[in-house]
Amino acid sequence: MKRLAILLIAASALFLGQAQAQRVNLLCSPDLAWCEALGPAFKEATGIDLEFQRLSSNDALARLRAEAANPIFDVWFGGTGDPHLIAYREGLTEFYEPTVWDEIIQDLKDQVGGTYIPLYAGALGFVVNEGVLEGKPMPAGWRDLTDPMYKGLLGMSDPNSSGTAYTVIATLVQLFGEDEAFEILAGMHQNMNQYTSSGSGPGQLAGRGEVAIGIQFMHDGVKFAAQGFPLTTYAPVEGTGYEIGGLSLIANAPNRDAAIAFIEWALTPEAQMIAAEQGDSYQIQSNRNTPVPELAPDLTTINLIDYDFDTYGTPEVKERLVGRWTNEIFPQPR
Ligand code: F6P
Repeated sequence: MKRLAILLIAASALFLGQAQAQRVNLLCSPDLAWCEALGPAFKEATGIDLEFQRLSSNDALARLRAEAANPIFDVWFGGTGDPHLIAYREGLTEFYEPTVWDEIIQDLKDQVGGTYIPLYAGALGFVVNEGVLEGKPMPAGWRDLTDPMYKGLLGMSDPNSSGTAYTVIATLVQLFGEDEAFEILAGMHQNMNQYTSSGSGPGQLAGRGEVAIGIQFMHDGVKFAAQGFPLTTYAPVEGTGYEIGGLSLIANAPNRDAAIAFIEWALTPEAQMIAAEQGDSYQIQSNRNTPVPELAPDLTTINLIDYDFDTYGTPEVKERLVGRWTNEIFPQPR
């Protein structure tokens, strides 16, 4: 009897030890403040530790490719949808259907369901510091960004690292056709002050007055305005593209059970509310029961294009377009 009791105590100590040792390694692509708020809340809800690394969407995809034979991360949280779709198509992630699947906004599932889990949605736009324009009109649409009066006043991210910038390129191609899109990108390049590595970088530059016009997701613009920067955020007149941010289980995740526990938790309204409440992030969250943040740009009033996620989430299409930008646009003297 005594020996059995000792064995039971030892076994439960071992079990507890294992449970305590559980942890999830997160590749995190949204705003740093949101990434930082996830760990403590997840630990409180589940007892599981969380570690994260923040990488922009395309840097994150490159990292997953490099570690494909020996994955280090368990879950990829956030970032634009195109690289999540590409990761799925390359076998770097697997589709996991969460128990709250019925609560995820149907329209988002219809567009990408079965490849990655929609985590949020947001539209591209302009984030403008009017004071820096010194009397010049605010650009109304994409074509206006090529006007020489905006020389040195534009900021955008680099599509080699940033999913936001790739969404800009894919949006222009869908709106104007590839030839005109690249003419517009060349005109924008002539006015570009700098390319940032992360998608929300241009809004920070605009907030500080280093550029006048940031080209990026609108939810990042309203964030900087809420922080007190003199910024106006709006959508271009010709129409605009949008993202369906992703949540993916990494294929052969080293901590698969903890990864699934995280995905289940991350899709609850309580967890999704952390974005706006603690993470300075104002996307529309994917669970239809998550309250829409007051500051979130209203996607129903924005002229959104019928974004073709399937085509622009194809590795060959993306590599070709980003390659064309890198070889033809970026090296042009300005
Ligand atoms: O800052 C948040 C955010 O705009 C997300 O909505 C988006 O998925 C992500 O950043 C894209 O970041 P990046 O352009 O750096 O890949």
